[in-house]
Amino acid sequence: MDSQADQNLPATASTTAPKPAGAVVEAAPDPPVNKMRRRIVWATIAGALTTFFLMFVRFFLPRSILEPSSSFRIGAPADYAIGVDTKWQQQYRIWVTRTSDRLFVIYARCTHLGCTPDWKASENKFKCPCHGSGYDSEGINFEGPAPRPMDRAKVSIDAEGQIVVDTGTLYEWPKGAKSEFDEDGAFLRV
Ligand code: FES
Repeated sequence: MDSQADQNLPATASTTAPKPAGAVVEAAPDPPVNKMRRRIVWATIAGALTTFFLMFVRFFLPRSILEPSSSFRIGAPADYAIGVDTKWQQQYRIWVTRTSDRLFVIYARCTHLGCTPDWKASENKFKCPCHGSGYDSEGINFEGPAPRPMDRAKVSIDAEGQIVVDTGTLYEWPKGAKSEFDEDGAFLRV
C-alpha cells in the first residue's frame, strides 16, 4: 500500500539530492544585521586609530604652534581711562587698571583656588564667585580666603606705541614677602 501512495506523490526537488558534478555553489547572502555589525566595528576601529594618530601628532608638535601666544597687544595707553577696563577678560583673562600715574594689567585669576572673579563696578571691587574673596580695583585682596593679591602681567610699549602684555611673565605679591609690583615690567608710567 505504501509503495502505491509514493507513486501518487507529486515530484519535488529533494534538498539532499546530490549536486551534479561541476555545479557552482553560491554562498548565502549576508543578513543585513551582519553588515551593520561589521560597519560599526570598522567605524570603531577607524575612530580609535584616528584618535591615537591625533594624540601622536599633538605630542610631537611644539606647544607654541598649538597654544595661543601669551604675548599680545591691547592698544595704546591713551585708550584706557582711569579705573578698571574689562574688555579683554574673555579673550585674554586680564583686566587693565589705570591709576593717576600707572597702568598695569591684572591677571584675572583668584589667588585662592584659581576661579575668575567678577568686576563689580558699583562696588568698585572684584568679587570671586567661588568662595567670596574680594579684591580692590588694584587687585589687592581684602576679604575672603584669598591669601594674596592677584598677579600682574608683564607690560611694555612696542615701537608703534602699543601696549604689549605677556601673561607668561607674572609679578606677584606673596603673603608675608616683598611685592614685585614696583619692578620694571610690572607697570607702565602714564
Ligand atoms: S577661588 Fe576665589 S575665593 Fe576661592
